[in-house]
Amino acid sequence: MNAVLKQPDLNLRPMAETDISDVLQIEHAAYAFPWNRNIFRGCLRENYCCRVVELDGGIAGYAIMSTGVDEAHLLNLCVDPGYHRTGLGDVLLNTMLDYARKQEAITTFLEVRPSNKAARRFYEKRGFVEVGLRANYYPAKFGREDAIIMAREMV
Ligand SMILES: CC(C)(COP(=O)(O)OP(=O)(O)OC[C@H]1O[C@@H](n2cnc3c(N)ncnc32)[C@H](O)[C@@H]1OP(=O)(O)O)[C@@H](O)C(=O)NCCC(=O)NCCS
Repeated sequence: MNAVLKQPDLNLRPMAETDISDVLQIEHAAYAFPWNRNIFRGCLRENYCCRVVELDGGIAGYAIMSTGVDEAHLLNLCVDPGYHRTGLGDVLLNTMLDYARKQEAITTFLEVRPSNKAARRFYEKRGFVEVGLRANYYPAKFGREDAIIMAREMV
């Protein structure tokens, strides 16, 4: 675990519109119901905090966060499946939590599918707790799937 943190060529930087094609490739590899180009464009236009992490000369993951009064929302955090469990998720999450603190967020929220056991475990181990449920939030193979709302206080 965290093997990736020892990589000297790890680079975190803001996402640019020209990154979206590479980001979409990871998005399609990682999710059954991926975001489309317009959603990523919209996040950039809204000036959300959009970051990519580069490794081995290419984008290996990305994260997007919006902030409002007292609250931050982690809208997407995704690592190329080829790099799962090497610590990149942690690098991205810590970057976004730092940003939330700088924006003086008191709480960071996110939504996750109940079926996404890896992400739930990942967030639980990093201090997020389940605080609610949004019924029928996500598209699913058969109908809709609820979203679990998770939150972490930023103290
Ligand atoms: C969730 C996600 C971002 C984690 O990224 P990652 O780079 O693998 O995470 P890290 O290597 O930093 O941390 C791994 C830790 O997360 C947890 N975890 C990750 N995958 C897991 C799995 N399949 N089963 C159980 N725990 C898992 C474990 O605590 C693990 O620590 P360990 O390897 O020491 O057991 C990644 O699985 C991902 O991109 N998934 C697809 C997109 C997604 O679902 N995003 C979240 C949407 S809400």
